[in-house]
Amino acid sequence: MSVDPARPLQGQKALVTGASSGIGAGVARAFAAAGAAVGVNFVGRRESAERIVEEIRGTGGEAIALQADVAQEAKVQAMFERFVEAFGRIDILVANAGIQQDAAVADMTTAQWQRVIDVNLTGQFLCAREAVRRFLGQPLEPAISRARGKIICMSSVHEVIPWAGHVNYAASKGGVMLMMKSLAQEVAQHRIRVNGIAPGAIKTAINRAAWETPEAERKLLELIPYGRVGEPDDIARAAVWLASDQSDYVMGTTLFVDGGMTLYPAFREGG
Ligand code: BGC
Repeated sequence: MSVDPARPLQGQKALVTGASSGIGAGVARAFAAAGAAVGVNFVGRRESAERIVEEIRGTGGEAIALQADVAQEAKVQAMFERFVEAFGRIDILVANAGIQQDAAVADMTTAQWQRVIDVNLTGQFLCAREAVRRFLGQPLEPAISRARGKIICMSSVHEVIPWAGHVNYAASKGGVMLMMKSLAQEVAQHRIRVNGIAPGAIKTAINRAAWETPEAERKLLELIPYGRVGEPDDIARAAVWLASDQSDYVMGTTLFVDGGMTLYPAFREGG
């Protein structure tokens, strides 16, 4: 079938977790612009989520706001239920919700460790499991997509770059990477595609301190060969591609969208 290249997700139904701000909000907007109906998941920021929904509707798109803490199994299941009630099926999950609770290892509490693992890793598992269950229970719709379903796991450059002072976060993202690949290996036979995106430093609230002042930004740029801090749209464009049939033969891959952060810029001179 022919797909309008400007709307590669036309007719698809996409759930984006953690979509009330930052990268998730950017992905939700870009998916709507690409023709998808979007579930805008949030946990605390209802107003921000509603605003994004209104924005999408204002441009003729379809969206609903869905509250759920992705770390809670029953809440996740209820969210998928509401999503499918509203849109009839699900074609795309972007497991994006993520948090940081930073501390030097000697000071890190068990609660800080656990909450980050619960949201960033268990949360992605719970959502991905529910998505796979739904994908398997619905027919392949070649007029909508060549795949039965797509999952995008939002990872981080810290799935490979160790990060002092953030052992909980780096461990969660390392976990996301192998969860994503194992899942991809398991479900490809059902025509379900699972991939990851590893953003570098993207200007959002999670890392505000790292780019807010010119001095902080200058320091951050030392880690970014391309010479600019990323924007949510940089990630959103990659997510649209990974969710669309344009990437139909891509599976189990992490797409690094990081301005070269994983190129070890310190080795430009030295080594
Ligand atoms: C973190 C940001 C950080 C970036 C690059 C992301 O995964 O959430 O705080 O700026 O990685 O280090």
